[in-house]
This record gives sequence, C-alpha cells and structure tokens, in this order.
Amino acid sequence: MPSSKQEAAKHDSANRKSTKTKQPKPARKPRKHCNALDGRQWIKNSISVWSDVRKQTGETKLGHPASFPEMLVERLIETFLPLDGESVLDPFAGSGSTLVAAERAGKCGIGLEISPEYVETANARLLALREDGGEETPTDAKQPDGSSGSVVHCDSATNLLTYVSPDSIDLCITSPPYWNILNQRRTADMKAVRHYGNRPDDLGVIEDYEEFLTATTKVLADVFTGLKPGAYCCVIVMDLRKKNRFFPLHSDLATRLVDVGYVLDDLIIWNRQAEYNNLRPLGYPSVFRVNKVHEYIVLMQKPRDAK
Ligand SMILES: C[S@@+](CC[C@H](N)C(=O)[O-])C[C@H]1O[C@@H](n2cnc3c(N)ncnc32)[C@H](O)[C@@H]1O
Repeated sequence: MPSSKQEAAKHDSANRKSTKTKQPKPARKPRKHCNALDGRQWIKNSISVWSDVRKQTGETKLGHPASFPEMLVERLIETFLPLDGESVLDPFAGSGSTLVAAERAGKCGIGLEISPEYVETANARLLALREDGGEETPTDAKQPDGSSGSVVHCDSATNLLTYVSPDSIDLCITSPPYWNILNQRRTADMKAVRHYGNRPDDLGVIEDYEEFLTATTKVLADVFTGLKPGAYCCVIVMDLRKKNRFFPLHSDLATRLVDVGYVLDDLIIWNRQAEYNNLRPLGYPSVFRVNKVHEYIVLMQKPRDAK
C-alpha cells in the first residue's frame, strides 16, 4: 500500500507537469536575414555548380576578351551583399559588368581598370543603363564617401587605397587577369589570341607565375583592407595549363589570400560548357588532356572580428 508521503510526491509531480504544460512558450527571437532570398532561391543559389549563367545578347558584343555575364554578378549580389549593403567593388573592372549589375540592383559600383578603352566601354554601359532604366534605375544607394552612382576609375588596381577607405566596402566581385594566358594560343578551341593591351602595369603581362600571384595577392590584400568586417570577396578564376604543367590558380590564390587574413568560405563552380561548341580532343592520341569548361568562384570572407 502506498504511504501518504508517496501519495503526496505523486500529487506534487502531477501538479508540476500540469503547470509546465500550461506555461506559454517563450516567443522565438526573429532570425536575422543575411540577404533577401526566399527559400526557393536560397536552395538554387546554394547548389555548388552554377550551370545556367549566360551572357545576354548585348554582352557578347562588348569587345572584352574575358567579360563575365551580368547574371553572374546579379546572383552573387543577391546572395552575398548584406541587406543594408550598398557598395560593390571590382578592382579589375574590365567592361564594367560588376558595376552595371550593381547599379541595376540599385547599389553603387566602384571599379578600377587600367585600360582606357575598357573604361570607356564601362562608362558607356552605365550611361545606357541610366538612360534606358527610367524609374527602375537607381537609387538611393551611396558610395562610402556619400556620393551617388557607380564610378570606374582609369587607374591601376595597385592604387586602390587612394579611392577606397578602410572598412568601407560591402562586397567585392572581381576577376583578375588569368596570368598571361590570353597571350597564348588557345588549344581548347583554337580561337584567335585576344589580350587586354599589354600595358606595363597590366598584371596579365607578368611572365613569372609566382610574381603574378604575388602581384594579384597584393591587390586583393588592399581589397581586404577596404572591406567591412564580415564582407565577402568573390574571386572568379580559371585553372591554367602551359604545355606539360598544370597551374591550379584558384587554390594557389586562395592559399595566399588565407595568409593575408581572409577565411576561405567555400567554392562555387561556374560551368561554362554550353559556351564551348568547338572542343578538340586535347593531346589525342598521345597524352590525355582535360578540356576545362568551368571557372571557380572563390568565396573569401573578411572575418567579422578582423582588426
Ligand atoms: C578578367 S578581366 C575582367 C573582366 C571583367 N570582369 C568584365 O566583366 O569585363 C581582367 C581585367 O583586369 C584589367 N587589369 C589588368 N591589370 C590591371 C591593373 N593593374 N589594374 C587595373 N586593371 C587591370 C585588364 O585590363 C582586364 O580588363
């Protein structure tokens, strides 16, 4: 037979249970959003291979040998620019794809480009966007110095910090020259050699691979200084081959950027296979060679607690 003590304990525990169930659940703190993507877009952008990124008709006629599609920049902006972010930097602006996509998204692009012809192309694209865009075009977004509208400076990226203050930029999206590879014969599809113009400060004319890596790292170290803590730097590069030697540019650069202080956050593969319609059997039949039809988007991040 249960004692009265046991009965009382049972009674107490039943009481505790019933009070517990009656307690209202504490309200969940709203989670902070890092971007404005909905769940469907979030999944799409999170897939590690991007195969649907294409240039639009006008973009194929820009006359730049390595311009990237605005669509690529749009996707990186919607994914990696913080909700309150405004400024998007490209120290190797080329034909201005980063700046045009930033401005189309209502943000401010800041670019440097060493070739006056490409600066002209970039400015013409920005002007056309402003003239065509009407209501949809910008914007209240401001440059870190308070001015509005995207700008491209005709100068070497080695002078970046004369245009950009420390801890002021929300996102960097850039594609440095692919070493001096554009001066080489294109073995994959035998298309004509096209280069950027071979100016003395052009990183694409440096002969020595280590020197090229050092010079590119130096520019991206200045980008690190210019980024706000926590901001991303998306570097778009391709691995390279010269005759018998393979150069894993994406990983060589990432290793150096980690030494600068960046965190290597992840990699996305940009699959460009649809653009290669004239592939040859490289090395056939004596030595098997890989036809590279992808580039890497190397996602580097300035740590949130960076000093
Ligand atoms: C891969 S392309 C970038 C293309 C660009 N993303 C676009 O969509 O047009 C690299 C660019 O870097 C430029 N460049 C090379 N050395 C430079 C330097 N020291 N400073 C600034 N730009 C440089 C080249 O002229 C070229 O336009």
